[in-house]
Amino acid sequence: MKILDSPETAAAEEEVYMKNLKAIILAAGEGSRMKSKKPKVLHEILHKTMVDYVIDTAKDCGAEQVCVVVGHKAEEVKAGIANDGVAFALQAEQKGTGHAVMMAGDFIDENSDMMILYGDTPLITGETLKNLVETHRKEGHGVTVVSALVENPTGYGRILRDENNGFRKIVEHKDATEQERLVKEINTGIYIFNGKALKNSLGKLDNHNAQGEYYLTDCLELILQDGGKVGAEVAADADEFFGVNSRVQLAEAAGIMKRRINRRHMENGVTIIDPDHTYIDSGVKIGMDTVILPGCVLEGNTVVGEDCEIGPHSRLVDTKLGNGVQFQHSTALESEIGNDTTVGPYAYIRPNCHIGNRVKIGDFVEVKNSTIGDGTKIPHLSYVGDTDAGERINFGCGSIMVNYDGKKKHRTTIGDDVFVGCNVNLVAPVTVEKGSYIAAGSTITKDVPGEVLAVARARQQIIEGWIEKRK
Ligand code: UD1
Ligand code: CA
Repeated sequence: MKILDSPETAAAEEEVYMKNLKAIILAAGEGSRMKSKKPKVLHEILHKTMVDYVIDTAKDCGAEQVCVVVGHKAEEVKAGIANDGVAFALQAEQKGTGHAVMMAGDFIDENSDMMILYGDTPLITGETLKNLVETHRKEGHGVTVVSALVENPTGYGRILRDENNGFRKIVEHKDATEQERLVKEINTGIYIFNGKALKNSLGKLDNHNAQGEYYLTDCLELILQDGGKVGAEVAADADEFFGVNSRVQLAEAAGIMKRRINRRHMENGVTIIDPDHTYIDSGVKIGMDTVILPGCVLEGNTVVGEDCEIGPHSRLVDTKLGNGVQFQHSTALESEIGNDTTVGPYAYIRPNCHIGNRVKIGDFVEVKNSTIGDGTKIPHLSYVGDTDAGERINFGCGSIMVNYDGKKKHRTTIGDDVFVGCNVNLVAPVTVEKGSYIAAGSTITKDVPGEVLAVARARQQIIEGWIEKRK
């Protein structure tokens, strides 16, 4: 049934009449100031490449298709992008920003709005771009450019306005007069173009300027001359348009990103004791009332539940934690940890562990590729690898699952309620069935049935008179 005047329907219809949005991301430049073998846009901020941030943001603000213009080390850039479904255009020689967009000519759709972004400007937000697109459409602009007011405009293109404060043109620093160089309103290099206006103006670009380049900035003046409207919107937050050209700027951008992510979690009810020393990747999710102590690094697609305490000094990579987990001074990789489990200090949980609820993984314990049932305790100095451990097992101090025979890895299976004494070796492949006890110091090489005591060590002997003889 269709309810015609419901707000949802109205919104859906508005959506239909809205123009499409596509994004072109310029990433052909060399970025020589990075002094790196790696292409600039592949340098990472919190484990994500700069260009992937820009692609994510473009998608986030509604771009249906994204085209990245590559040139310098094109194949490496293409391979290094994590996002799927991205189109590429090749700019073999870098002849300017206008030329770069020309190379994506086939991608430009006359019926769409075309957003132009840079691959080395990772701090731009979807929110800002959404507002920009909205203004662009409401005002019926041929192109809308984002400008910023900066203290030191050296090197940037300057926005020149007419006596009514309307947009006149952009002049590049190298082409500007002394007078024009005094202008502190700069071009951020981010634009929304009407697709048709972009196509027309690109066709008229020349390279008669100080750098002999095809300047995208000249398109704006051309659109104006053609009778189009050009808007220059001053950015509220100049940080968003911060371009990275060097390692120093990479660290600055990373600092801004880190603070932004930490702030978002704090606003969602997470306590972060020391946000300056907490590094959370953009894809991480954290539940309410969780406390993050100083020195933590939360990476990739890590998910932390509610009421957890993480840290100090802990690292979680692509790991899922339930609620009420205590995780201190430890590392976990690609694993799952259940509710109310405690980990650390100094535990190392390696990939593919499934650790249950109310488990204790204590100090100097390494667990790898193992399943640990609810209520099981591995309190100290143990190695548990390639093991399927049931519930309520107690692993004594120093118990080792001997999983490697020098050629192959083998599994150990331990039933519920087993008691593994101190300094026990379980030599895999081996199974210990439910409820059995393994005597301290045993080296178990054969399967142990349920509900028994297994002892596998030399019996203690007392040798009377031995000391006397030795004298
Ligand atoms: C450009 C703008 C300038 C603006 C500044 C903001 C022009 C002519 N000037 O300056 O007004 O203030 O950005 O940072 O557009 N790129 C290519 N191919 C090229 C040239 C550049 O892909 O042939 C890419 C670069 O990789 C980079 C981006 O475009 O991501 C900007 O290039 P860059 O040389 O830094 O900008 P400018 O031309 O100096
Ligand atoms: Ca630049």
